[in-house]
Amino acid sequence: MNLNNRKEHNHKVGTYFDKASITFDTFYDRQRSAFMQWVDRKFRSDVFERYRLTFETIEPLKDKTVLDVGCGSGPYVVEAARRGGKRVVGLDMAQGMLDLGCQRAAAAGVADECEFILGVFPQDSPQETFDYAIVMGVMDYIADPLPFLSALARRVQLRAVMSFPSKHWFRTPLRKVRYWLKRCPVYFYEPLQIEELSKAAGFSNTKVEKIPGAGMDYFVTVFK
Ligand SMILES: C[S@@+](CC[C@H](N)C(=O)[O-])C[C@H]1O[C@@H](n2cnc3c(N)ncnc32)[C@H](O)[C@@H]1O
Repeated sequence: MNLNNRKEHNHKVGTYFDKASITFDTFYDRQRSAFMQWVDRKFRSDVFERYRLTFETIEPLKDKTVLDVGCGSGPYVVEAARRGGKRVVGLDMAQGMLDLGCQRAAAAGVADECEFILGVFPQDSPQETFDYAIVMGVMDYIADPLPFLSALARRVQLRAVMSFPSKHWFRTPLRKVRYWLKRCPVYFYEPLQIEELSKAAGFSNTKVEKIPGAGMDYFVTVFK
């Protein structure tokens, strides 16, 4: 993808999530209507499951550093800080999401351990390395996964947890149309492709788990 196309691509994704930030955030705090909570439990259970698997996989967190790429409204940033992370950085391209993240960190009393940065990964990433990285719900919107994963491998010392959307005969075309209508590009992956990409990016080992149930995501752990 050339520079102009990449800028246009990032602009579309950032604009979509800026607009969607408040609706997206209500998901975590169960502030939605009873019907929408039922829809979330039935069709979006991966979001809860990948959250649970993340904190099972990146431990211990005490005194560790964490980079959350595409941190959204900061639920993982805040939880990593609550669990003892000494420096937790959330990077996101949508200002609306980061504003909610700052509020969440302040409300949880962990604002001093959390930093939120507005920008696009990898070009705006902090240059230091982190013990762990979290990349949840982001690979869906990455047009060039190899440079993204290669940059991630340079930032991580221990391991990173990521979600990748799978391909499904019915739900994938439906999601493509929904996002096309919202002018937000979206991408899907096969397990072998995830393993090959992670290896080419410089990770020594990759564990791909399909989240069970109605979910569409792979939960992926990559090791340095
Ligand atoms: C579906 S949300 C997930 C947010 C959060 N990780 C979570 O699971 O709650 C995806 C987020 O990734 C961000 N994003 C997508 N591509 C990005 C990139 N290359 N650099 C930084 N943020 C990105 C979007 O702005 C959006 O807030």
